[in-house]
Amino acid sequence: MDDLFEIMRTTRSMRRLKPDPVPDDLLNRVLEAGTFAANGGNMQSWRFLVIRDPAIKAAAGAWYQKAWHEVVGPRYRSGGPAPGVTPERFARMLNAAEYLADHFHEAPVWIVPCLAGPRGSGSSIFPAVQNMLLACRALDLGTTLTTLYMMHEKETEAAMGIPDGYHSYAILPVGFPMGKFGPVRRSPLVDVVFDDKWGKGWDQGQ
Ligand SMILES: Cc1cc2nc3c(=O)[nH]c(=O)nc-3n(C[C@H](O)[C@H](O)[C@H](O)COP(=O)(O)O)c2cc1C
Repeated sequence: MDDLFEIMRTTRSMRRLKPDPVPDDLLNRVLEAGTFAANGGNMQSWRFLVIRDPAIKAAAGAWYQKAWHEVVGPRYRSGGPAPGVTPERFARMLNAAEYLADHFHEAPVWIVPCLAGPRGSGSSIFPAVQNMLLACRALDLGTTLTTLYMMHEKETEAAMGIPDGYHSYAILPVGFPMGKFGPVRRSPLVDVVFDDKWGKGWDQGQ
């Protein structure tokens, strides 16, 4: 698949992954796509930690699982669905998120995008993250941008061996998806884009 717009339209979070290893040539292409991204002053103060060691994934994944079960899962389950999403579809998403929490360590490879310096907004790493999400989709690999492990940031970063002076900004568990790719679900432009005046919905050509 090589049409960029179709790739963007179908880059969904793929939370159920097969344990099959990801070939190195595909992994290299995803990582290289990350390094193509815009970043402040082109300083490239990013580092991408690739984790395949089952013991490291088990130790760090346990913190993700704890955060999901103790805080994030109950919070989502007690609230309403995302805008424009039916309760049934939202429940399916939460079930997939719970599946990911319980199987996080089984993803064959994790990519952990990091930046040097004190924790900041991440504006010099999230373009790389998005490039890697899109690259995974283009190569039929599934992944999800995850951050909820940050509820136990210190413990998870220690388990991943991230040194002082660096911070992780996400964990991307990568593997071949069990399910099929499909379109993302988003609100129409008229609801989220304003035309000259704040609140005046964009309806050009819609
Ligand atoms: C900053 C950020 C953090 C996220 N953290 C998590 C996470 O920890 N776990 C998870 O399952 N999904 C996480 N997501 C994925 C979102 O839940 C997902 O993008 C959203 O529900 C839309 O679904 P889609 O990506 O399938 O279109 C995160 C997304 C973003 C942008």
